[in-house]
Amino acid sequence: MFRFSCLAMFLVLGSEIEKAYTTEVTVKDKDDKLCLYANLMVNFTVTYEVVGKSNNTVEFQLPDVVNASGSSCGTDNSTLKLSFGNGHSWTINFTKEKDMYKADNIVLTYNLSDDSIFKNASSNGTVSVKFTPSIANVVVDTYYSCKSQDTVENDAVKQTLWNVALQAFVTNGSKSENETVCAKDKASTTQMPTTTTAATTVITATTAPPPVPPPSAGTYNLSAAGNGTICLLASMGLQISYNDSLDFQKVNLEPNKTTVTGACGSNNSIAALVLTSEKVAVAFTFIEEGKKFLLHAVNVTVKHINGTSFSAANTNLSLWQATLGSSYMCNKEQTQNITDTLSLYTLKLQVQPFEVKNDKFSTAEECFLDADLSFLVPIAVGMALGFLIVLVLISYLIGRRKSRTGYQSV
Ligand SMILES: *[C@@H]1O[C@H](CO)[C@@H](O)[C@H](O)[C@H]1NC(C)=O
Ligand SMILES: *[C@@H]1O[C@H](CO)[C@@H](O)[C@H](O)[C@H]1NC(C)=O
Ligand SMILES: *[C@@H]1O[C@H](CO)[C@@H](O)[C@H](O)[C@H]1NC(C)=O
Ligand SMILES: *[C@@H]1O[C@H](CO)[C@@H](O)[C@H](O)[C@H]1NC(C)=O
Ligand SMILES: *[C@@H]1O[C@H](CO)[C@@H](O)[C@H](O)[C@H]1NC(C)=O
Ligand SMILES: *[C@@H]1O[C@H](CO)[C@@H](O)[C@H](O)[C@H]1NC(C)=O
Ligand SMILES: *[C@@H]1O[C@H](CO)[C@@H](O)[C@H](O)[C@H]1NC(C)=O
Ligand SMILES: *[C@@H]1O[C@H](CO)[C@@H](O)[C@H](O)[C@H]1NC(C)=O
Ligand SMILES: *[C@@H]1O[C@H](CO)[C@@H](O)[C@H](O)[C@H]1NC(C)=O
Repeated sequence: MFRFSCLAMFLVLGSEIEKAYTTEVTVKDKDDKLCLYANLMVNFTVTYEVVGKSNNTVEFQLPDVVNASGSSCGTDNSTLKLSFGNGHSWTINFTKEKDMYKADNIVLTYNLSDDSIFKNASSNGTVSVKFTPSIANVVVDTYYSCKSQDTVENDAVKQTLWNVALQAFVTNGSKSENETVCAKDKASTTQMPTTTTAATTVITATTAPPPVPPPSAGTYNLSAAGNGTICLLASMGLQISYNDSLDFQKVNLEPNKTTVTGACGSNNSIAALVLTSEKVAVAFTFIEEGKKFLLHAVNVTVKHINGTSFSAANTNLSLWQATLGSSYMCNKEQTQNITDTLSLYTLKLQVQPFEVKNDKFSTAEECFLDADLSFLVPIAVGMALGFLIVLVLISYLIGRRKSRTGYQSV
């Protein structure tokens, strides 16, 4: 029952996911070294006059494809200029003072003649609006990180900036690993420990409906080196939940964008399956143990958009067990905690890491969740009731006998 409500909830949430573009740009200096990096999301809401003197409001995003050729890097002043669409641009000016840098202003220039955004605009000129951003006091040699939304408004334009990772005045040609976290993010993360230390909230965190749709099931088979014979069979829908110091996230493995590598267990009784997508790499290690096989180790690495990565592994697991020569199956959705910071959510799972014959799964041994044991509930209730009746009857009989002997003795 609980599982169903979970599923329903994340279907609802999943449908609300909007398409949002992440814009990632790198600017290089004259020596072809990285000097400015940005990875961010921006939305604009613009009100403009239409023919007939009324107003119209449109919302658009900074697209993922932009032209940064107007950008420049200097020792104390840098400019990130992103041109997009038909004559629009978004420009940030940075200045450095001692060991801090900040963004002085942001200028959005939009072209009202662009009919694809500003329909029926009464003017055909370009408009520029200037904002004062809250990107300040960033330590030199660190990147500014702010996942929270920052909305600024100016006359006809409202700008929302979020999921920001940016670094101006990059030294040595590579982005820093150290970050300066914005105040808003700090406010939300300092509250996190209190919610994660309580055992009850940890449970809600791992079973909470994921804010991403359920993963699609994919086939991830591995062939023996040298010939096309399949030596490891796997199919599943897989979602990774991880919790690093910054946030709790769920990532689906998309079958279409996942490559399969690994090693089969010929006679060393270890098999490895490595699934790699753009963002995540998951390594499964299966071993033979007696007449059984089991999933012994899981190692997950997630690449963050800002270039850092998260990694967690457990090499002492005993999951997905089945008899050698058969396959392990679990159709129902199943969540396994791998470490404190990592859990795997699977559905339509079937694996056979050893003794694959004719490229097909052998007999499946199903997980406990798949076995429908709900019929046992009425039986158990019935038995308990029956037992209770017998108990009452016995105590009644004993009681009667006792009271009878009692009367006789009087
Ligand atoms: C960004 O814009 C999209 C549509 O353009 C909208 O659905 C979404 O809610 C906006 N997001 C934010 C954070 O403003
Ligand atoms: C504005 O948009 C119009 C129509 O797309 C285009 O012809 C014009 O060149 C653009 N203006 C600028 C400054 O790019
Ligand atoms: C558009 O611009 C041209 C000249 O650039 C001008 O002659 C024309 O009147 C303008 N149209 C509108 C609707 O403002
Ligand atoms: C991060 O900053 C600390 C202290 O400033 C420094 O010791 C460390 O080397 C930096 N780490 C990286 C990866 O830049
Ligand atoms: C393919 O290779 C595996 C192991 O290397 C071997 O067991 C199998 O017989 C080979 N299959 C064919 C068709 O050659
Ligand atoms: C995978 O890609 C194919 C075509 O490239 C598409 O038809 C199919 O819907 C995709 N499947 C998923 C699960 O995205
Ligand atoms: C398989 O076992 C044989 C004999 O025990 C050994 O010589 C061979 O090196 C093993 N091969 C692998 C890949 O472990
Ligand atoms: C997990 O994988 C990462 C990246 O490949 C590696 O650096 C790390 O050592 C692995 N951890 C374990 C426990 O195998
Ligand atoms: C591995 O797990 C077993 C049983 O769960 C436990 O007894 C053992 O101490 C664990 N070993 C390590 C290295 O954590």
